[in-house]
Amino acid sequence: MEEERLVTGGFKEQEDEQEKSLRPKTLTEYVGQQVVKDSLNIYIQAARERHDSLDHILLYGPPGLGKTTLAAIVAAEMGQNIRVTSGPAIERAGDLASLLTNLSSGDVLFIDEIHRLSHAVEEVLYPAMEDFALDIMIGKGPSARSIRLDLPKFTLIGATTRAGSLSAPLRDRFGILFRLQMYTTDELMKIIQHSSKVLNIKYDEDGIREIAGRSRGTPRIVNRLLRRVRDYAQVRGDGTITKAIAQEALQLLQVDNLGLDRVDREILTTMMVKFEGRPVGLDTLAATTGEDAVTIEDVVEPYLMQLGFVMRTPRGRICTKAAYEHMKLPVPKTYIQDTVPQGQMSMLDGEMKNEDQ
Ligand SMILES: Nc1ncnc2c1ncn2[C@@H]1O[C@H](COP(=O)(O)OP(=O)(O)O)[C@@H](O)[C@H]1O
Ligand SMILES: [Mg+2]
Repeated sequence: MEEERLVTGGFKEQEDEQEKSLRPKTLTEYVGQQVVKDSLNIYIQAARERHDSLDHILLYGPPGLGKTTLAAIVAAEMGQNIRVTSGPAIERAGDLASLLTNLSSGDVLFIDEIHRLSHAVEEVLYPAMEDFALDIMIGKGPSARSIRLDLPKFTLIGATTRAGSLSAPLRDRFGILFRLQMYTTDELMKIIQHSSKVLNIKYDEDGIREIAGRSRGTPRIVNRLLRRVRDYAQVRGDGTITKAIAQEALQLLQVDNLGLDRVDREILTTMMVKFEGRPVGLDTLAATTGEDAVTIEDVVEPYLMQLGFVMRTPRGRICTKAAYEHMKLPVPKTYIQDTVPQGQMSMLDGEMKNEDQ
């Protein structure tokens, strides 16, 4: 099912090439995330002036918000090479050791999905991050001894969709932490304008505003919807993306005016109708809707919470009144009033408390 979903921020293999052509190459071209860009500009300039490497950086936020793009930009702005790998790809401690010993001074090592590193691999990473050293055991039994190898000074950039599942010792070794924010409609429109130039797409302002408004604050989704609407405009219209064309195309794609698709609506309806507005646990929700729990938590929920449609309470997930209104469903008598004060609500489990911004 996941493959067919248009509005997930998740990465799709076949989009790789297209994404590459749309990827901004410099901090200036990188739209939005002003706080992150301002800080990075300072850190990068300072490190360059000292002829030093940057502190290790942790980027976190839902898929499609620009973590991989930003890592590549940081390396480019530092004038350094980037080595790209991911948590699941580093299976054994030895894999990481050989990656690290092959780095050159100043290199950026990007580890995507860093929360999925195994414990044994993490252990190798600690001295590497802290002291730029590798501890290796030589021999076995009583004669075994550990020797320390020096590593070149490098910058680790880790990316994760869930900062909460990073172990504390790993998290603490990052000097710089950035949480990427969802993008505003205006920012997404800027991204569409840039992509349209690259892909040679004609549009009017209202047309692209319509696409931006339904893209869940996510650049990857905005680019994906843009290509679909472009196809529609070409076949059903004169090739120009207008508001009417965008609306028709997105209706055909079952993406509603807030960017919710069939899966979102099914999850909301399940909570509202099947569970009659009572709090529901994540696993129950996953089992009932047939969706993967991780997908619900990492991809579906962040946007529903951003919209203020779903809240996490100590007893489970509940829909808000605003969600009932959007779905045009009556609030059931069994609906649990918003029992937890708003302030506590924002402290999502899975979230980090010591944020950088
Ligand atoms: N700030 C941005 N400005 C312009 N385009 C962006 C930005 N962030 C992401 N994109 C676009 O979205 C796509 C997905 O971004 P990516 O960095 O792969 O996201 P993530 O690694 O967080 O899943 C990129 O290929 C790029 O085209
Ligand atoms: Mg990525």
